[in-house]
Amino acid sequence: MTTLGIIGAGHIGSQVARVAIANGYDVVIANSRGPETLADLVAELGPNARAATAEDAAAAADVAVVTVPLRAIDDLPAEQLAGKIVLDTNNYYFERDGHIEALDKGETTTSELVQRALPNSKIAKAFNHIFASEITSDGTPAGTPNRRALATAGDDAEAVAFVTRFYDEAGFDTVNVGPLSESWRVERDRPAYVVRQNAEELTENLARANRLP
Ligand SMILES: NC(=O)c1ccc[n+]([C@@H]2O[C@H](COP(=O)([O-])OP(=O)(O)OC[C@H]3O[C@@H](n4cnc5c(N)ncnc54)[C@H](OP(=O)(O)O)[C@@H]3O)[C@@H](O)[C@H]2O)c1
Repeated sequence: MTTLGIIGAGHIGSQVARVAIANGYDVVIANSRGPETLADLVAELGPNARAATAEDAAAAADVAVVTVPLRAIDDLPAEQLAGKIVLDTNNYYFERDGHIEALDKGETTTSELVQRALPNSKIAKAFNHIFASEITSDGTPAGTPNRRALATAGDDAEAVAFVTRFYDEAGFDTVNVGPLSESWRVERDRPAYVVRQNAEELTENLARANRLP
């Protein structure tokens, strides 16, 4: 049994928790306000889920998911996440996160910032370019014609392989963008962002992305 430690229990965190439970994972999930505020979600998820602090969710995780607003990544429990695969769903919204010059200038990517905040973790991009509600509505079995595809990116082959497997279990094909430094291709306002596309269409959309949107 693999335990998924999910830090962030909002739109995306709760949806990733639902697909994880549906596919046989244990889930330990955290938010900023404390485990007691997650009682309803944990009751819905059932006996294989529990709420915890972010530190405890990270410590319990075989694999972690970081799905908090980008401005909160420096508060993540880096020590407890060291050595682990960490799925990064983050996007940059300057309206919410404040301006980050290196992102505004196209000098880095959101995932590289997460990697910097978690220097000893194996980061892979996941679920950043799909609306949260569609994570549980758009999945189909492998081999379905025109199956929806999602992108990942990562510098660690094991982390990319995990995302590929998890996407498949959730009902999606995978397109690998390449290293974290290339993950801007699937960031906000690029052609591949929050549109339904199959693997071929996603590959085309990644190729025609511009460095600055
Ligand atoms: N919504 C979408 O459709 C969507 C799609 C793709 C990607 N994304 C991206 O994925 C990330 C999460 O988005 P979301 O829509 O799920 O956000 P959200 O609904 O606002 O949820 C954010 C979650 O993060 C928690 N959190 C904030 N700071 C924290 C901290 N320091 N430690 C632990 N937990 C903390 C919040 O807890 P509290 O509520 O207790 O503060 C909340 O549970 C964002 O970067 C977003 O841009 C969103």
